[in-house]
This record gives sequence, structure tokens and C-alpha cells, in this order.
Amino acid sequence: MARAQSADLFPTDLPLPARLLIGRGDDIREIATTVMAGANLVVAGPRRTGKTSVCEAALARAKKGGFYVAALDLFRIANAAQLAEALVAATIANRPRLHRILHRAREAGRLVADAAGTTVVLKAQDELGDELEIAFKPGLAERDPERYLDYALGLPQRIAARDGKHLVLFIDEFQEVANPRKPYGDPDALTKRMRAIFQRSPDVSFLFAGSYEHILRDLFGQARQAFGHFGAMVELRPIAETAWRSGLLDRFAVDSCTVGDEALDRLVALGGGHPRATMLVAQKTHLQAILVGSHHIDATLVEQGLRSALLGDRATLEQTVEQIRLAHRHALLIARRIALRESPYRDLKSVDAFRALKGLQQTGLIVQDGPRRWRILDPLLARFLRELEPFG
Ligand SMILES: Nc1ncnc2c1ncn2[C@@H]1O[C@H](COP(=O)(O)OP(=O)(O)OP(=O)(O)O)[C@@H](O)[C@H]1O
Ligand SMILES: [Mg+2]
Repeated sequence: MARAQSADLFPTDLPLPARLLIGRGDDIREIATTVMAGANLVVAGPRRTGKTSVCEAALARAKKGGFYVAALDLFRIANAAQLAEALVAATIANRPRLHRILHRAREAGRLVADAAGTTVVLKAQDELGDELEIAFKPGLAERDPERYLDYALGLPQRIAARDGKHLVLFIDEFQEVANPRKPYGDPDALTKRMRAIFQRSPDVSFLFAGSYEHILRDLFGQARQAFGHFGAMVELRPIAETAWRSGLLDRFAVDSCTVGDEALDRLVALGGGHPRATMLVAQKTHLQAILVGSHHIDATLVEQGLRSALLGDRATLEQTVEQIRLAHRHALLIARRIALRESPYRDLKSVDAFRALKGLQQTGLIVQDGPRRWRILDPLLARFLRELEPFG
């Protein structure tokens, strides 16, 4: 029988559908319940820990519960005009007939509607404003991005009120609004406009997520900031070891693989509770099992899986080391010490150590577990740093 593909069993590079998530049930429930109750939330957390997957699952729940939903990923949206277009499209997609017309328009690159379709669009424009057409006419929003963006930001409320629905709007990678490159215009002005419009949207709940925690904290944490106290900050809970164990066993079982106790212990330990790292080592371990034609996972295969994971991620890990190096002149030294569980401050001036740690923390690569206790979040990165040969 053909074997299941490792990357299908243990995907590593995309948000996962809810049925493939290990653990996270509580997070999804809590987030879904909160936004369905009308409150706003900000899910902040390091990269590759499952924020998008969890928020999408919560959104799917809301949709199932009869809510309108819309989702945007700012990493994929280049400028204000595109933001306006995407938001209008995601919002009106809640109406099935508009959704169908929109879908056809997207495929054809222009509005294709028969007489009935044209009537639907015209009627919607009547109700919701002429600007609605930007969803159907690529490039139109570019003519006046600011006006269209204002329109788009207010549309979720308009459509929710019209249809007697509550809408949940999920904006992923929200810190991009404050990106110094100003993709959507001046961050200060933009966030103020957004806040003003969102504030007047009683039928909309906002779910924000992002991987640059310090920027999100700046945006939402302080009263004087544009989004000060607009949404409660939440972090995803750690995924319990028992959940990892049973989740991994279930995934391996899909390909009729059994896993030895020692191998399972090792897999969970190597993953260090980090979702993507655990999945990557499991994926590569499964691939090793396929290569040797085995359906039993033992500790040797896990070790080979780890090596193969490190090798496969080498380019990214090297880029990350570069990012660390750029954070501060002592950042790499300190990161290595943290990885080696040595005292990070040794023979450094405290002001230097403090700045380097701060820089590192802002990269989202390290977390503080307690006073003077730091940890490299991704165990594969920690290993890479430990094995890095400082003398070339
Ligand atoms: N609950 C989970 N169970 C198993 N794997 C998970 C889980 N959550 C996340 N992952 C792993 O992490 C990867 C990234 O997930 P996701 O995109 O949801 O995270 P993210 O925090 O949004 O990442 P990014 O920082 O890239 O936006 C997934 O492809 C998967 O390998
Ligand atoms: Mg994400």
C-alpha cells in the first residue's frame, strides 16, 4: 500500500485546519466564545506557534454559529488600496450571491455578471455604498486609497447592521499597520482612523493576531496609544505533553506506524513544546521510516529525523543567526550562552547585556521564564546555536 506523505501527516509551513491541530481545543473555544460575545481580542505570540491556525479555527466556529466572518492577513497585503479591496471583498463574501459573483470576477479578472448578477451588485451598492465596486474592479481603489480604505473599514459594521448579524473580523499580522516602512500610510494617522471607525462598530468583534509581541503591546497596551485597551491581549497556552504524545501517536497511526516509548519521549523532548519544531522533527522522522521501509518508529529514526530537520532548516536557521547578530553586537554571544544554559551576562557590562537581551527579546526568539531565566523558544534554533562553531 502506498504510504502517507510525511508533509501531509506533519505539515510545517502553513496554518493547519482545526482537525490537524494537536491540543489547542481550550484556546479555540475561549477565543471563539469571547469574540462571539462581542469582545475584542489580540492574540500575540512568537512565530510558528499556531496563532493563525487557532484564530482561523475560532473563526470557523463563529461562522458555524451563524456569525458573519471576515479574515485578512496583512503579510499578504501590500498597500492601502489593496487593504481596502481585500476588506470589502472579505466582508461582502458573507452574502452568498455576492460571494458567487465575486468569485467569478476574481477568476476572470473583471466583473462578469449576467443581468441578474448585475442587479444584485447594483442593489448592494445602493444599500452599502457605491464604493463597494472596488471589490469587483481591480485597480479602482488605487485612485483614492484613503477614501476607499475609510469606506472599507466601516463596511463590516454596515453590512452586519443591515443583515441583523454580528460579524467577527480577524486581522492577522496586525503589527504591520505600525511597520516603519508605512505600507498603508502613516501609522499614527492610520491607527487613529481605524480605532475611530472600529469603535463605532458595535456589531463587529475584532480578533487581531501578530508575531511581533512588543509592537502589539505598544499598540494595545497603553491607554495613550491608538488601540489602547481596545482589545484584551491573550497568549496561547502551552500544549500539554500528554496532548503531544497522543496527537503524535494518532498522526503516525494514519500511516499504520507504531512508535516506541523511548522514541516518543525523545520526539516530545526534542520538540520542546514548540509546535512547528515538533512537527518538523516528526515529519523528518516519518520520512526516515519510509526510506528504510519501516512502520515502527524507534529512537534511532528520531535521531536521524532530528539531523534531517536541522539540515532542511539550515538556510532559515542561518538567516535567523544573522538576524540575531543584527539585533545587537553582543546578541549572538548571549543567545549562544542561553542556548548552552550558561549565565548570559558573564563578563559583560550590565547595560550591554540588558540592551542585547532587549534586542533579542524583540526578535521574538527568546522568552523569559523567570527572573534572569531565559530560553530560546525554538529548540531547533537552540540546538543550531549550541552547535555553531564560533571559530569557523
Ligand atoms: N496545535 C498544533 N499542532 C500541531 N502543529 C502545530 C500546531 N500549531 C502550530 N503547528 C505547527 O506550526 C506551523 C505554523 O502554524 P501557524 O501558521 O498557525 O502558526 P503562526 O503562529 O500563525 O505562525 P506565523 O508566525 O508564521 O504566522 C504549522 O504548519 C504546524 O507545523
Ligand atoms: Mg500566522
